[in-house]
Amino acid sequence: MTEPTAVQPTLNDIVALCKRRGFIFPSSEIYGGFAASWDYGPLGVEMKNCVKSLWWQDTVTSRDDVVGMDGAVTTHPRVWEASGHVEGFHDPLVDCKTCGHRFRADKLDEECCPLKPSKTPRECGGELTPPRDFSLMFKLHWGPVEDSANITYLRPETCQTIFPNFKNVLTATRMRVPFGIAQIGKSFRNEITTKAFIFRQREFEQMELEYFVHPSESDKWFAFWLERRRQWYLSLGVRESHLRLRQHGKDELAHYAKDCYDVEYKFPMGWSELEGIANRTDYDLRRHSEFSKKDLSYRDDLTGEKYFPWVIESSAGVDRTILVLLSDAYDIDQAPNDKGEMEERLVLRFSPKVAPVTVAVFPLFKKPGLSELARQIEHSLRGPYRTAYDETGNIGKRYRRQDEIGTPLCITVDYDSLEDHAVTIRNRDTMRQIRVSVDQIHQAVADQLKEMEKPRG
Ligand code: GAP
Repeated sequence: MTEPTAVQPTLNDIVALCKRRGFIFPSSEIYGGFAASWDYGPLGVEMKNCVKSLWWQDTVTSRDDVVGMDGAVTTHPRVWEASGHVEGFHDPLVDCKTCGHRFRADKLDEECCPLKPSKTPRECGGELTPPRDFSLMFKLHWGPVEDSANITYLRPETCQTIFPNFKNVLTATRMRVPFGIAQIGKSFRNEITTKAFIFRQREFEQMELEYFVHPSESDKWFAFWLERRRQWYLSLGVRESHLRLRQHGKDELAHYAKDCYDVEYKFPMGWSELEGIANRTDYDLRRHSEFSKKDLSYRDDLTGEKYFPWVIESSAGVDRTILVLLSDAYDIDQAPNDKGEMEERLVLRFSPKVAPVTVAVFPLFKKPGLSELARQIEHSLRGPYRTAYDETGNIGKRYRRQDEIGTPLCITVDYDSLEDHAVTIRNRDTMRQIRVSVDQIHQAVADQLKEMEKPRG
């Protein structure tokens, strides 16, 4: 194997690979597509399930101070008045009087004119209207009558179903501050700028933790969750050099926040937000108390102190995490083909924790005896691992197909296997092959995967 090249894929490279191999498809493609909407295919949904389950494990089930919930996507409209979204969840928007298109006033330099794609809306000569506020919430009528009395919204963030349930969770679980409530679910925003694949969608999934603390301990817990969340991305195999924490300046800080950092990743289009970690103070519990007229304060039964806990929030995007994993894993190196000649190889260097297939099993040829043994091995690995079986095409092509979807290990059953009861295990990254006896496969697979889970630096 030659040294891997330092590959920084473009977004188009990733979109093309995702479609070709079944990670992510453009939504409603046969009808011409649907802006800012994407469907996860067979490999994409496996990755998504891995990401969500690893987050849940790290944030909820491995801790005794965090519980989960799963709130409704649509809520009472007062929730969004209390949260401040009805009044303030807007983007500034301008219309072009020449082409009729709308653009985000604060992102004009990142947009292209639809009539003159090489120019931005500022440069194309079209006359722009003055900026006006555009609500990012999707409005809908709740129930069979379409009048203003039953307007509500699709939630633009999951956390606003956590705060109204603060007392319910407290009473049901008898948790004591500090403790957290976590949730994974869909959110919806009527985004104006939509050209960044799954980075900015109108329907997306969030993983949010609201961690309730005594106000005097908020700085300590803020620092704790910042580092904990950074470590989580490293544990998924994301390169440390492509990850950074960026503190919000005073001008960007939300009005309710005391402090906020973005976990940023070096995406193909540049450094951008992957997750927000904020000290939200007691804003949400106070506002929901005020608007609902229900007391959401907390009484410490040991000290007798009654107060509104402050909230440390970690708010991560499932889809942005998937885009990080795809961009981070994408690599091109040189590998020998069936004739022993070196050729370019596209390989996804996923950590085994998130690879949609962990082990693929092949018979060298589609022949009786070989196929049965390969099937038996694949079935024995199914369950502990995500497996695939492939007997079509020559062996080199089959390795390449698995490399392209990031499968860490491939096991090949050959004619000798029928005599010596041993198989070949091939490592995706080193391309080294080792011979292992059939009854040692589970141990050998576990050892190699453990090695491949180590951080990439
Ligand atoms: N509750 C706080 C909150 O929602 P946010 O920074 O607006 O904070 C948190 O969103 C995360 O949700 C982002 O860091 C991103 O990962 C994800 N996210 C937000 N808008 C998104 C969109 N339009 N498409 C995909 N992911 C999005």
